[in-house]
Amino acid sequence: MQIVRESSGLAGAVQRWRAAGERIALVPTMGALHAGHLALVEEARTRAGRVVATIFVNPLQFGPGEDLDRYPRQEQADLAMLEANGCDLVWLPTAGQLYPPGFATSVSVAEVSERWDGQARPGHFEGVATVVAKLLIAAAPDIALFGEKDFQQLAVIRRMVADLGLSVEIVGVPTVRDSDGLALSSRNSYLSADDRRRALALPGALQAARDAILGGGEVEAALEVARRSLAEAGFARIDYVALVDEATLEPLDKLAAPARLIAAATISGTRLIDNVRVEHATV
Ligand code: PAJ
Repeated sequence: MQIVRESSGLAGAVQRWRAAGERIALVPTMGALHAGHLALVEEARTRAGRVVATIFVNPLQFGPGEDLDRYPRQEQADLAMLEANGCDLVWLPTAGQLYPPGFATSVSVAEVSERWDGQARPGHFEGVATVVAKLLIAAAPDIALFGEKDFQQLAVIRRMVADLGLSVEIVGVPTVRDSDGLALSSRNSYLSADDRRRALALPGALQAARDAILGGGEVEAALEVARRSLAEAGFARIDYVALVDEATLEPLDKLAAPARLIAAATISGTRLIDNVRVEHATV
């Protein structure tokens, strides 16, 4: 596995692979890797001959008072995991490389960015769209893979790629969960054992709301039950629990396919997000 820090190292490898007619997949990450990230790498390997991962804790997507400084960093462990999972190249750019002095351009995706996490974290999706646009331009992959765990992020990236006419296929990968149902996240490392147990209310509330809605219950009533169960479990702040259209992220007050239940809430200072698809099983 090649480890490159300069974009010239990335460009050289990509050029050689492309000249040899190989298909290239890109998996962008902020490191602190877990089985969720590795599922993206694994899916990438089934779809492309070469897999490029990036590790970059992108300062642009963190707001003031967020966890940029304490975001977990474990470069050696990350590189070992990527190598063991068949990654061909890892690019670890520096902030100075991606955002040189005088950097003044940003990518802003209207509408799909505006609600939910866009509202709770002003500037977050602009930071995500800007860095992902730069990574896509630098690596020029055939496909790029993103987790459904960050469902709004995936929708924002799809919109950006369509609007800018970037010739890359965006692939969404289902959320990987621990055996107890908690979605894997680098931020789970902030949770104490007790917080972690109480955090299970998040997937629990989403599943219960999904079952209620699929069973014919009123959407708003199901969302209210979910909010209450999060509050009872000790989530001090609930940013949103909503049923939304999967493409536009607009709220739905009645079940219409394809729909997602999405939620964000904070427990002991750690903000967690999760989502589940809401659809009747097809026979
Ligand atoms: P990060 O949080 O490191 O996540 C990198 C990728 O892994 C994202 O596409 C995310 O959705 C996916 N992922 C995280 N947890 C997952 C899980 N439990 N199951 C499946 N996929 C999971 O998301 C980012 O970084 C950044 O915003 C980034 C896109 C790299 C831009 O900076």
